[in-house]
Amino acid sequence: MRILFVGDVVGSIGLKALHTYLKDLKSELKPQLTIVNGENSNGGKGIKESDFKSILNSGADIVTSGNHVWDKREVIDFINDKDNMLRPLNYPGNVPGNGFKTININGQKVTVLNMQGTALMQPIDNPFYAFDEFYNDHQDEMIFVDFHAETTSEKIAFGRYIDGRAQVMVGTHTHVQTNDAQVFPKGLAYLTDVGMTGALDGILGTKSKRVINRFLTQRPEKFDVEEDGRMQLNYAVIDLNEKNNKIKADYIRS
Ligand SMILES: [Fe+2]
Repeated sequence: MRILFVGDVVGSIGLKALHTYLKDLKSELKPQLTIVNGENSNGGKGIKESDFKSILNSGADIVTSGNHVWDKREVIDFINDKDNMLRPLNYPGNVPGNGFKTININGQKVTVLNMQGTALMQPIDNPFYAFDEFYNDHQDEMIFVDFHAETTSEKIAFGRYIDGRAQVMVGTHTHVQTNDAQVFPKGLAYLTDVGMTGALDGILGTKSKRVINRFLTQRPEKFDVEEDGRMQLNYAVIDLNEKNNKIKADYIRS
């Protein structure tokens, strides 16, 4: 089984990059499942239904998100109706939307789970305990996790914690792809961060000038999405096979 994951789509140029590159990438890789993180697709913060539809039209099966999922209030209008639009599972209280989706691929139940870290991020429910609780009811499924988090340490710790229970964990949120794709000892395909999809020449998807000015002056600046110039699409591809009666990752590359 092959899964393709595309990193954070940033702004209109991110949607354009997805539209431009994903079809050919899918023709080459032939994944059974394509997942895209879309939480920055509307102006760099949030997602509206039109962005969600654009991402699906480009070839995604499931859209994941993270800390910016609520930034455009219009997300409330459709997130309950679209079970392939995910928000992090570990939000506290009775928030709208779904944190995971289970589909069937060649007789195998595959669950895509969206989780969010808490280190240097807003203090939502502890993702480690949230995963334990989630896993109690999903032990027979192949579990793919988009762990949306800021720090490399929390991401690696979470990966080590779920190794042997989940089969894939990719990180999102930092917009910079890490060079550490590996299969952990108990079969988890792991990548700290997949990176982003959008402008190549900005800074994490935003215009360089204001970010640099912030460092020069230490004063707040309004960050705008870089919508011009060259584009990039960052992704990871994961192959999984049945070994010892349990699905394990064969390899992950990015
Ligand atoms: Fe984020």
